Amino acid sequence: MKRILLIVGGGIAAYKSCELIRLLRGRGHQVRCVLTEGGSQFVTPMTLAALSEQPVHTSLWDLKDEAEMGHIQLSRQADLVVVAPATADLLARMAAGLADDLATTLLLATDKPVLAAPAMNVRMWTHPATARNVARLRADGVTVLEPDEGAMACGEYGPGRLPEPAAIVAAIEAALGTGDRPLAGRHVLVTAGPTHEPIDPVRYLANRSSGRQGFAIARAAAMLGARVPLDPGRRRQRPRPCDQRDAADAGRGRAGRCGDRARDGGGGGGGDARRRGGDGRGGRRLARRAAAAEA
Ligand SMILES: Cc1cc2nc3c(=O)[nH]c(=O)nc-3n(C[C@H](O)[C@H](O)[C@H](O)COP(=O)(O)O)c2cc1C
Repeated sequence: MKRILLIVGGGIAAYKSCELIRLLRGRGHQVRCVLTEGGSQFVTPMTLAALSEQPVHTSLWDLKDEAEMGHIQLSRQADLVVVAPATADLLARMAAGLADDLATTLLLATDKPVLAAPAMNVRMWTHPATARNVARLRADGVTVLEPDEGAMACGEYGPGRLPEPAAIVAAIEAALGTGDRPLAGRHVLVTAGPTHEPIDPVRYLANRSSGRQGFAIARAAAMLGARVPLDPGRRRQRPRPCDQRDAADAGRGRAGRCGDRARDGGGGGGGDARRRGGDGRGGRRLARRAAAAEA
């Protein structure tokens, strides 16, 4: 049994924290909730208290709590601090190191690992300010889960949905080092992103893969205990010296080392175009056709 301090932020996905509590308790963990002022617009302390069977904390200025259990103690007695949903506002306050309510004060005072599950509109998630805040939090050692992609409550579509509660539970147990780890001791090599199949030294067949599926598979394998080297996919392909020379040769109407295709008319477009206007056979053929047309 592990003790989890769950901070519920002020997002529409706050209702999913109820399912999260239920799942965590079903797996034998104790859950104590902190509800932000924003969060209390979406779920009530009563609901969280009933599901967790623990008192719910909402205010830094609750003197009764401070006498029985100060905010420092509350932040330290958990094994893991979980923020779900982590709103854009809460992530920004965390990244800035603010301590302007009970949730952020606990997050600043804790000496325990912190895991955040973001949930927000796609524009909020992709906004450079949020990206900056997430990068800063990750650099500070906070585990920030990638949000799910899909239809949103606001009617838009894209990344920003709270990960499913079961996936958050898996991430929590991975962070705690508990749970099922059937891939422990295994290496899983994951490649992500587009592939490039060469047709010849110049051209290739590619696809528009974003790499997201590969990243999700890598994350799932890591959560199941595997060590996961991840190849994030091809970036811009740098031509081999052989390719460069062949492209230049094709432009001059000569065959390169990598075959005769350019000279035979099956080579790269740039090489072909230049060859027709040059001194190769294609140029002479065009000149003959032009002379015949004039006659
Ligand atoms: C109906 C409604 C839904 C909202 N949903 C979200 C949301 O999903 N994610 C988010 O980052 N902010 C959302 N907001 C804005 C937050 O409620 C607002 O930024 C709030 O200050 C966040 O409080 P917190 O810092 O305690 O989480 C929503 C606001 C409203 C009125």
